[in-house]
Amino acid sequence: MHGNTPLLSIRDLKKVYKTRDGELEALGSVTFDIYPQEFVSIVGPSGCGKTTLLKIIAGLLPKTSGEIFVDKNQFDPSREVGFVFQKPLLLPWRKVIDNVLLPIEILKLDKRRYIEKARALLELVGLSGFENNYPNELSGGMQQRVSIARALIHDPKLILMDEPFGALDALTRERMNLELLRIWSESQKTILFVTHGIQEAIFLSDRVIILSARPSRMIKALDIELPRPRTMEVRSSAEFGVYSLEVYRCLELT
Ligand SMILES: Nc1ncnc2c1ncn2[C@@H]1O[C@H](COP(=O)(O)OP(=O)(O)O)[C@@H](O)[C@H]1O
Ligand SMILES: [Mg+2]
Repeated sequence: MHGNTPLLSIRDLKKVYKTRDGELEALGSVTFDIYPQEFVSIVGPSGCGKTTLLKIIAGLLPKTSGEIFVDKNQFDPSREVGFVFQKPLLLPWRKVIDNVLLPIEILKLDKRRYIEKARALLELVGLSGFENNYPNELSGGMQQRVSIARALIHDPKLILMDEPFGALDALTRERMNLELLRIWSESQKTILFVTHGIQEAIFLSDRVIILSARPSRMIKALDIELPRPRTMEVRSSAEFGVYSLEVYRCLELT
């Protein structure tokens, strides 16, 4: 499927939190690779360290041990990661377009050069015409679209998404899944997507990484060979059911 070098390699990654009550082993030992332009999901029980893992990859949290290799030729983690959190985390006093431009300010790039790009990204996420609205004028799904545009503005290779649609109603969530696949294929990004939705992970991904309960280790990396582009109908196919059962079976073993 991919003969090239990984964009990101994670080897025996461990995280121990030091708390007032002692040590808490969050990541036991996590090892996997992500290749350019892949869509990879991570599923695992609540509290197994999924958010911890994404934050370490993004450089927001130090690891305890293990290694993260990036292909330096194509990837500088300080600039090449876009993060979409569970909550949109928009600044309420800023217009939509100025929220999208926030990473440009943080990276101290020339904002004027990115205004057209911000507009194009808002169009990509289906929000053209809302540039000058304020976040509280948008629905939850629309706010999450803004945060996706914000994660793409500085053109990172890797997008990390932490249960981005978890707070949305079921119908909006399914619509966002389809939208995300379109955005992914149009933008040619690599996406690492955390979810506790097993169906969602299978529907979206090239590969689903299943983590055990804390201290987490990888139980399985399941290749999803459903054809693309994917439509909602694939969810009712026999193959989809087989993949779901496999993931459920893995998680039951934890
Ligand atoms: N800053 C922290 N200090 C101490 N423990 C933490 C901290 N952040 C998370 N944890 C603990 O680490 C474990 C993994 O948390 P997290 O990565 O948020 O899991 P997940 O995202 O899979 O639900 C949980 O038991 C959580 O309580
Ligand atoms: Mg989490």
